[in-house]
Amino acid sequence: MAHRLTVIGTGYLGATHAACMADLGFEVLGLDVDAERIARLAAGDLPFYEPGLEPLLRRGLESGRLRFTTSYDEAAEFGDVHFLCVGTPQKAGEYAADLAYVEEAVTRLAARLRRPCLVVGKSTVPVGTADRLARRIAELAPVGGDAVLAWNPEFLREGFACKDTLHPDRIVVGLPADQGAAGHAEKVLREVYAPMLAEGTPFVVADYPTSELVKVSANAFLATKISFINAMAEVCEAAHADVTKLSEALSYDDRIGGRFLGPGLGFGGGCLPKDIRAFMARAGELGVDQALTFLREVDEINIRRRIRMVDLARELLGGSFIGRTVGVLGAAFKPDSDDVRDSPALDVAATIRGQGGRVTVFDPRAMDNARRAQPALAYGESALAAARGAHVVLLLTEWSEFRRMDPADLAEVVAERNIVDGRNALDPERWRSAGWTYRALGRP
Ligand code: UDX
Repeated sequence: MAHRLTVIGTGYLGATHAACMADLGFEVLGLDVDAERIARLAAGDLPFYEPGLEPLLRRGLESGRLRFTTSYDEAAEFGDVHFLCVGTPQKAGEYAADLAYVEEAVTRLAARLRRPCLVVGKSTVPVGTADRLARRIAELAPVGGDAVLAWNPEFLREGFACKDTLHPDRIVVGLPADQGAAGHAEKVLREVYAPMLAEGTPFVVADYPTSELVKVSANAFLATKISFINAMAEVCEAAHADVTKLSEALSYDDRIGGRFLGPGLGFGGGCLPKDIRAFMARAGELGVDQALTFLREVDEINIRRRIRMVDLARELLGGSFIGRTVGVLGAAFKPDSDDVRDSPALDVAATIRGQGGRVTVFDPRAMDNARRAQPALAYGESALAAARGAHVVLLLTEWSEFRRMDPADLAEVVAERNIVDGRNALDPERWRSAGWTYRALGRP
């Protein structure tokens, strides 16, 4: 059956989902309340950087299968399946997630649902949200019980968004308690995800709260793994041990595994930091805050890496940034992304500037976003421009062009050959033999 899909919210998640589903052959209508964003998407112009996504977007537009709108009336009329992909940012000054966009999207859509359809929540939400939204839909939808809600968390990573969407590790669906509605929802989702299921992708069917928890517990686990190795890095620094060797040795134990065991400046971005905080807040509301107190520690270990990075750089400069020049390589929260939300790199750069350093930043993709987020910092047009005259160079996001840098080229432009490798991305021997003082987090 050829379902017509709408995707409500066209940020990273929604724009990727819309373009990928159109590429699979579905007719897709993307909706956003931001008219400028919709105009750009409709013109084939992706409002953020994501490798491989723009060609998919253009192909969808050219085929006529992918269209965009700002109208809820049009979306409600068009869709058999409505994917909810709006953001759930951290509330200002609080740990909890801000559900205003989800609430608004569901309320506006539900009031217009006049024919049988499935609403599929993909946004990351506090456990218990789906249950509440299902009741809202039942109250508001003119079609009544023929508008069914399913919860289907999304695990895509920025930088791999298309691959993660088209070839996911697993598909998780949370279904309503009503057997008839649940059976219908499962059937529709199996049809929509048929190409993935044909590849053998595990399909996990659960209830609403379990499906909501899968997403936040996955992110909590990943954040914990990163902070675990960064805690080991703190111990390594004190014990004159090498955390990169430690991590390698641990990784051969396949019960542990090497992924997300990369020591360095720690995690940032629009998901892990806010998701673990929202998870703690929700556990508190549920009266089980003790179950997640360790996540506070995970968050604190993560933030301490940024402080340690600043301390290391200051140490190399003899104890003060005043009157000193610092070249910063990297602004995005991770490579292959232009996202600077909660970026460890920009945080470190801004802190050093706050302590009197002259900081110049370069990032291959995130310059525009970085300038908007930190307008007071200086920006260079290349790695060499950012490093010109520097007394210390800091590698804070491990873009491959930084990994490949020639120490001799950089030596020609800096004032002093000091480098701090915040991502354990460089070969210390190569840099030391080229006359550099090389320091890294968690290594002697
Ligand atoms: C994450 C989850 O991976 C994804 O499943 C979820 O849907 C959204 O959140 P993303 O934010 O795109 O995805 O980034 P991810 O690749 O997970 O990296 C998160 C942060 O961890 C980055 O800042 C990265 O630099 C850092 N990281 C990752 C480490 O510090 N060490 C590692 O070993 C791995």
